[in-house]
Amino acid sequence: MEKRNKIVAGNWKMHGSRALVQSLVTAIKEGAASLSDQVDVILFPSFVHVPLVNQLLENSAVMMGAQTLDAHASGAFTGEISGPMLIDYGCRYVLVGHSERRHLFHEGLSVVAEKFKAALRVGLQPILCVGETLPQREQGLTENIIHEQLASVIEAVSIDAFQQAVIAYEPVWAIGTGLTATPDEAQTVHRLIRQQLADCHRDIANAVRILYGGSVKADNAKGLFAMPDIDGGLIGGASLEATGFLAICHAAV
Ligand code: PGA
Repeated sequence: MEKRNKIVAGNWKMHGSRALVQSLVTAIKEGAASLSDQVDVILFPSFVHVPLVNQLLENSAVMMGAQTLDAHASGAFTGEISGPMLIDYGCRYVLVGHSERRHLFHEGLSVVAEKFKAALRVGLQPILCVGETLPQREQGLTENIIHEQLASVIEAVSIDAFQQAVIAYEPVWAIGTGLTATPDEAQTVHRLIRQQLADCHRDIANAVRILYGGSVKADNAKGLFAMPDIDGGLIGGASLEATGFLAICHAAV
């Protein structure tokens, strides 16, 4: 079985000031230095903080990504940020299809697939987020929803593209609510995701990293990361405080 390095990713969402970013990055860089061979640590600041984080991460193994991107490379799209701009400022990853983008900004399946493609085109690794809402889970629709969210991207880019991508399973009911999926609940869905990819290409499915996201904290990370198909976490709230975030990074070793 393929050895997959774990990823711990911190999604800061629309939080932070110059001062907070400076102190967070400094502490995370220092605290994660000893983990660099074992865990890929990636920070996702707001767009406006990207240049500062890029500067602060110089000579560090900690990497940076953006929270979204526009599907176009350039053009008259006031307020948008493109993949080439992100590459220019040191981003290596980009979140695509985060539930807040799908639900609050109405990004449907085709928009998500276009953004995924745009990321690959410039050499950004997309982290494709998938997940069901609480009503969908209660109606027994989890498997269908995840299947549809993943299939629409596989169809748009082909399975080979997943050699350059990461997936994050984030049940919407667990994001920012303090409710976490149990390790077994999460593992069940991670297994389904890997199986769906394996139906297209077994080796790619075995190599792709699938993160869990949704109220991951220092005290529940270890149990989640111990599951065979969970390859790390996408951390929101708990990534805004260095000690807790570093404890999650250490739980991935
Ligand atoms: P949370 O957010 O850890 O605050 O639940 C996770 C996410 O939205 O990626």
